[in-house]
Amino acid sequence: MTSHDIREKFINFFKERGHVQIPSSSLIPSGDVTTLFTGSGMQPLIKYLLGEKHSGGQRLTNSQKSFRAEDIDEVGDNRHTTFFEMLGNWSLGDYFKQEQLRWFFEFLTNEVKLDPNKLYVTVFDGDEENNIPRDTESVSIWQELFKGVEIEAKVVELVTEARGGEVGMRGGRIFYYNAKKNWWSRAGIPAKMPAHEPGGPDSEVFYEFTSVEHNPSFGVHCHPNCDCGRFMEIGNSVFMEYIKNEDGTFSKLAQQNVDFGGGLERITAASQDDPDIFNTDILKPLIDAIRKEAKTSNIHSERIVADHVRASIFLISDGVIPSNKERGYLLRRLIRRAVTHGQYLIGLPQGFLSTTIDTLIASYADVYPELVTNKNLIKEVFTKEQSAFEKTYHNGIKTFENIARDNHTISGEDAFALLATHGFPIELTEELAKHAGKTVDRIKFQEEIERHKEISKAGQEKKFGGHGLILDTGELKASTPEEVQKVTRLHTATHLMQQALRDVLGNSVHQMGSDITPERTRFDFSFDRKVTQEEIKKVENRVNEIVNKDLPMQHKEMKKEEAEKTGALFFFGEKYPETVKVYFAGNTLEDAYSKEFCGGPHVTHTGEVGKFKILKEEASSAGVRRLRATVE
Ligand code: ALA
Repeated sequence: MTSHDIREKFINFFKERGHVQIPSSSLIPSGDVTTLFTGSGMQPLIKYLLGEKHSGGQRLTNSQKSFRAEDIDEVGDNRHTTFFEMLGNWSLGDYFKQEQLRWFFEFLTNEVKLDPNKLYVTVFDGDEENNIPRDTESVSIWQELFKGVEIEAKVVELVTEARGGEVGMRGGRIFYYNAKKNWWSRAGIPAKMPAHEPGGPDSEVFYEFTSVEHNPSFGVHCHPNCDCGRFMEIGNSVFMEYIKNEDGTFSKLAQQNVDFGGGLERITAASQDDPDIFNTDILKPLIDAIRKEAKTSNIHSERIVADHVRASIFLISDGVIPSNKERGYLLRRLIRRAVTHGQYLIGLPQGFLSTTIDTLIASYADVYPELVTNKNLIKEVFTKEQSAFEKTYHNGIKTFENIARDNHTISGEDAFALLATHGFPIELTEELAKHAGKTVDRIKFQEEIERHKEISKAGQEKKFGGHGLILDTGELKASTPEEVQKVTRLHTATHLMQQALRDVLGNSVHQMGSDITPERTRFDFSFDRKVTQEEIKKVENRVNEIVNKDLPMQHKEMKKEEAEKTGALFFFGEKYPETVKVYFAGNTLEDAYSKEFCGGPHVTHTGEVGKFKILKEEASSAGVRRLRATVE
């Protein structure tokens, strides 16, 4: 079966059981400042798991684009990727363990036609410290299900991760593990969860690849959670019914939820009884294309290149642009690491990576049409980053080799120079060093970074010093009371304009930067083509309409988590404190026209903004447009 078949079968299976299909959310979480990327299907659904009503009802299903930066170092084996698709189904206070475990078992055995003899399951052993009982109910359900296919499912107790290698299989089918393996929340184990975070016990299903021999370097005996590769996790049913309190204890949520997630590529690999997910329909052609062009073969690097190129195109499509911060930095790391593995380690020709984009997009065209819509943008952004790095990369490698030849440790200064002069992310230098049997002085490197930040800050203070600026928030600059008034009006206009842009051009519009002087506001935002004259007119009219309504411009101070739940917009490039202000134009926060995380200042009523006019629209950088506007 192909991944297309399995995706479709899964969605249909749950639709037939009363679920509504919801679209995949963006890889950039909207209104969630707790994580940089969407890493599971439940993330966009948090508020519904906590009790809010979802317009689709209580049963939902989808295939969610997911990106897990934390797995970047695992990529290279036969089953880890940074980007993957997660098949999901949810019960929002509707069905619970009985239905969930039965349905997933039925899906695997009847639809995907996996041999039940090759399925093993794990359940939560309980957490005494937090007063959370072991999940005996799931064990009984699993025993019944296996009995139905004439398998007597023996339970093996107390397999902590550390002891799994000692205990081994013992003829078991169902295994109790502790919270480290069988508890799920966005933050991990109960102890790591912040207050107000939901979580719960989970039950995972593993597929056994009998062709893979246990590798004793991972432990004397094999067991489902062993990392040798004989067992692969193919799905996780989380019984999300707990929430952490302020005092660290746990309470039951008002509703019992199910949050299921299963890796599409992994289920596909199981359906082929082949443990290598890079042999599945979507990744295989990419691996083949890489192999065809590579001078040397190295399966580890081939997989890294394939994974990183695929992840990059999805990230770019969702609005990430290479930069030196947060999401942009991760994208930059992916592309630069792919270039390095591609050229240095397997001898791919210059410019090769971007030639695979068309094929990759074609294989996703029906499921993620945004890739097709954004194709030119994706190619432009990727190719630009690729060729910029290819220019400095050769000299960087030469420099690196010279340093590594004479030193056992790459010094902080050298690592900094590799970054500043040749664009080598520190993680890449570390990886190359490891490859050459060397280490990097990471502490000194960090000190170098801080030292250079200080130097450039001192330079900036000098630049502004003595100009008598009375307002300089970085974005707003004014030096007389009249100018303060003008930038304040323009500041409010900028908020209204951002919302108007989203109204007219859609929600892919995100602020990428802004700068306001008494003369004009300059606003950069993600958008992949020129904005037409007609659209500009519409945006202008929309802003002026709100100005004429003379809505009150108010603000509310609240916890960042609360603020994000209001749907207020915020600037991805910015780090916000725990308590933030949300400025909104309207009578109440709920029905406000615009809401944004912001420090002010703003006018008190939108009418004070005056007549709003867009002066100019142009490209700022790849995928980013720039508008200049003023008020009369
Ligand atoms: N949210 C659960 C996971 O990511 C299903 O494993």
